[in-house]
Amino acid sequence: MPATVVVGTQWGDEGKGKVTDTLAKEMELVVRYQGGHNAGHTLVVNGQRFALQLIPSGVLYDHVVPVIGNGVVVDPVTFLAEIDRLTASGVDCSRLKLSTHAHLILPWHVAHDAASEAARGDAPIGTTLKGIGPAYADKARRVGLRAGDIVDRAEFAAALKARAEAENAVITALGQDAVDVDDVVARYAGEIADRMTPYLCDTVSLVNEALEDGRHVLFEGAQATFLDLDQGTYPYVTSSNPVAGGACAGAGIGPQWITRVIGIAKAYCTRVGAGPFPAEDLGQAGEMLVEIGREFGTVTGRRRRTGWFDVPMLRHAKRLNGLTELAVTKLDVFDTFDEIKLCVAYERDGKRLTSYPDRLADLAAVTPVYETFPGWRTTLAGCRERDELPGAARQYVDALEQHVGVKITFVGTGPDRDHYVAQP
Ligand code: GDP
Ligand code: IMO
Ligand code: MG
Repeated sequence: MPATVVVGTQWGDEGKGKVTDTLAKEMELVVRYQGGHNAGHTLVVNGQRFALQLIPSGVLYDHVVPVIGNGVVVDPVTFLAEIDRLTASGVDCSRLKLSTHAHLILPWHVAHDAASEAARGDAPIGTTLKGIGPAYADKARRVGLRAGDIVDRAEFAAALKARAEAENAVITALGQDAVDVDDVVARYAGEIADRMTPYLCDTVSLVNEALEDGRHVLFEGAQATFLDLDQGTYPYVTSSNPVAGGACAGAGIGPQWITRVIGIAKAYCTRVGAGPFPAEDLGQAGEMLVEIGREFGTVTGRRRRTGWFDVPMLRHAKRLNGLTELAVTKLDVFDTFDEIKLCVAYERDGKRLTSYPDRLADLAAVTPVYETFPGWRTTLAGCRERDELPGAARQYVDALEQHVGVKITFVGTGPDRDHYVAQP
């Protein structure tokens, strides 16, 4: 099984970081293939918390080569700050590789993100304001600068200057502050470029050679299926392709290598930012999920919207990604619940829908159909086998598996690296 993809199946923050970290034990390369520092992946190792944004979750293992693929957009300042933070915590980042083809997020992208959100008035997308969308837009417009461009410093400085001047004209007209052109050129083509250079790599050759040698490579998706630019709840999405197929374009591999696609889903559901959320719970149960699940964004600190596990959504995610298995995280968050609701279908005008709504307006108009399960009212701590789960927890997990139609091979029972039940 040379290539495995880990993909979020909901709206992000499913616990991809933790699952990737767990799987990384058996991997030689862990490759990020899209997104940028809008991602926040939290790992807890022996009680120590690591919050990663750009660097693949495999970095915590000495035997893993962490790779930032060509499909990622990289904010140089965040990239270096994250390396510094990890190094200060005793993590060795010297094996990290950064694709020469990864596009750079530059200060004007952040200004554009703020201006676009402001221009949407009272209907913003609720982006992370990290400049992600504008950086991908420049890539698509073929005016972006890439990490590999820093190799020729004089040419890079000239390109930065030209871009900064052109962008200043636009962003000031949009009411944003102009960037200091000389300062940007001096820093980005100076110390920042010096510090980034050792990590630059032809990652396409690196990853393909690893696969050809039969080594195990894990592709770590950021964001999630329903934030996918093409398949998600557009326009309330991110600007890249988190779906499993995105790993091919975002890392430069052929689809035949991917034999294992692990979807990650919370035992309930959350969303940050705007957009439809059929199984959202705006009552006391939703509040309990926020409090017990600590549902506040890793990157922006925003309160996440919460609701119930949504089977129609997961069945659609199964198709969109070709899921071969499912990892369900945060089951322990229900430990004190008396009952748990599961959205098993959608209805519209009293009729059950047989397929996932194709249009955003249709999705926003559905009524969720719930089944209710009893809670287990005990801790899941210490369970290591599915058979050791309390009966009611097993019943709920079995129901998820049957409804979605994908084998559940991993159940999260707590935040720490060792808090899970595995059933290969
Ligand atoms: P990601 O973006 O998909 O990597 O997920 P985040 O890291 O943003 O959010 C998931 C949060 O849940 C993190 O704080 C994790 O430490 C935590 N977490 C992951 N798995 C579990 C689990 O099984 N139980 C509990 N209680 N927390 C978990
Ligand atoms: P991880 O990898 C949850 C959401 C934002 C917003 C939309 C667009 O930790 O799961 P963007 O800044 O990407 O243009 O924002 O996408 N979003 C996320 N939500 N988890 C994430 O990443 C997210 N990355 C972006 O809240 O709704
Ligand atoms: Mg996250």
